[in-house]
Amino acid sequence: MYAHPIHDFQYKNGELYCEGVKVSAIAKKVGTPVYIYSHTTLVEHFCKIRAAFSEIDPIICFAMKANSNLAILKALVNEDAGFDIVSGGELKKAKMVKADMRKVAFASVGKTEGEIIEAIKAGILLFNVESKPELLNINRIAARLKKTVQVALRINPDIEAPTHAKISTGSLKNKFGIDLKTARQIFLDQKAYKYLKINGVHIHIGSQITKAAPFLRAIEKALAFIDDLEMDGVRIDYFDIGGGLGIVYKDENPQTAKQYADKVLPLLRGRKFKVLMEPGRFIVGNAGIFITTKLYLKDNGVKKFMIVDAGMNDLVRPSMYGAYHEIIPVKKSAVGKVTVDVVGPICESGDTFAFDRKLPDIQDGEYLALLSAGAYGYAMASNYNVRPRAAEVMVKGHQWAIIQERETFKDLVAGSKLPGFLK
Ligand code: LLP
Repeated sequence: MYAHPIHDFQYKNGELYCEGVKVSAIAKKVGTPVYIYSHTTLVEHFCKIRAAFSEIDPIICFAMKANSNLAILKALVNEDAGFDIVSGGELKKAKMVKADMRKVAFASVGKTEGEIIEAIKAGILLFNVESKPELLNINRIAARLKKTVQVALRINPDIEAPTHAKISTGSLKNKFGIDLKTARQIFLDQKAYKYLKINGVHIHIGSQITKAAPFLRAIEKALAFIDDLEMDGVRIDYFDIGGGLGIVYKDENPQTAKQYADKVLPLLRGRKFKVLMEPGRFIVGNAGIFITTKLYLKDNGVKKFMIVDAGMNDLVRPSMYGAYHEIIPVKKSAVGKVTVDVVGPICESGDTFAFDRKLPDIQDGEYLALLSAGAYGYAMASNYNVRPRAAEVMVKGHQWAIIQERETFKDLVAGSKLPGFLK
C-alpha cells in the first residue's frame, strides 16, 4: 500500500474498505470486474487544488477525458468545477450534469463542424484552438450563427516533458498546438477573424509529470510570449496552464498541489488575465480502484500466470504505456507469496497487468484490487473480444451505488445489422 494517506481505500481487520464499505461486499453484489470510486477522495483532490490556488481563484476545468462517468462529473459540479472537454459527447455530458458553461473550455486538434456549432450554441467560455484552418472554420461558423466566440490559442512551447512518449505533448514533434511564430501572427492579425475574440493562451505539455520544472519552463515561455503580445497592444484575458500533474502509482514522489502552487503562483501573481487549469488524473486517479477475480493459476514450468477475469479492454494502461498499477488482495491472507504475471483472458500477449509481481497465492475466486485506476481506466475501456464493459460504483461514507451498469450482450449488439444481401 502507499506510504501516504492519499486515498480512502484502507484495510480494516484484513479486509479492504472503500471509505466505510467493504470492497468484497460490493464485488459480491455487483460482480467483477468493477471500478469502485471514493467520493471523499475525489472531492478532496479537487479541493486540494482549489485551496492551493485560492489566491488567484482559477477556473478549474476537470479534464473529462480522464473519467466521464456522470456521477463523477456531478460530484465535481457540486464543488463548482468547470470542464475541459474534447468532443461533442463530452459537451453533452457537461450539459447533462448542468455544468456552468462559462467554465467550459473546448480543446481537441480536430473539432468537427457539428461540434463547433453545438458548443457555440451552448455558450461555452472559450475554444482552445490548435491550428489556423480550425480558427478559420470557427470564425466562419460563428459568422453564420451571428455570435462572437472567445478563443485561446494552444501554443506549442516546444518543451520535452519527462514522461511517457505517448502522453508527452509539448514539443513540435507532436501534433499539438500552434508554433509560437504562427500563433503570434494570428494574434496580430486578429481583425481578420471578425467573429472571434482571440484573447487567450493555452498550454498543456503532457501528462503524469511529477516535477514542477517542466511546467515552470512552459509557463515562463508562455508568459514571455504574452508579454510580447501585450507590448503590441494585444489583450490577453485568459491563460490556461493545462493539466498534467502526476500522481502516485508506485514509488513516485510527485509534487503536491500546494508545492505546485507555491512554484507557479509567483509567476502568475498580479497579472490581469484569468487563469484556467485542466487537471484530470490528479483529481480522479487515486479516487478509483479496479477489482478483478482470480480465475486460475497456470504454471508452464518457466513462468507462473495469475489469470484474472479482467482484460486489457477494461484497463488498457499497462498494455498501452507499460504503466504500473499496484495490485493488492481484497482480503489479506497469511498464504505464501508467488511471483506471477497477472494476465487477462484476451488473445494478446499484451493483455498483462503486471510482470513478475510477488503476490499472495490467493485461491481461485478471490478478489484482487488494482490501485490508482480512477483516471483513464473505464474511460479507455473497449469491447475488444466482445467483452461488456465493467460496472462502476461510487462510495460515500457508508453508502454506495452503482453509477454505471455493467454492459449486457444486448448493449453490445445494439445497432448491429445484417444486410439484406446476406439473408
Ligand atoms: N488538458 C489537455 C489539453 C489534455 O490533453 C489532457 C490530457 C489534460 C488536460 C489532462 O491531463 P491530466 O491532468 O489528466 O494528466 N491516457 C493516458 C493519458 C492521456 C492524457 C491525454 N490528455 C494515460 O492513461 O496515462
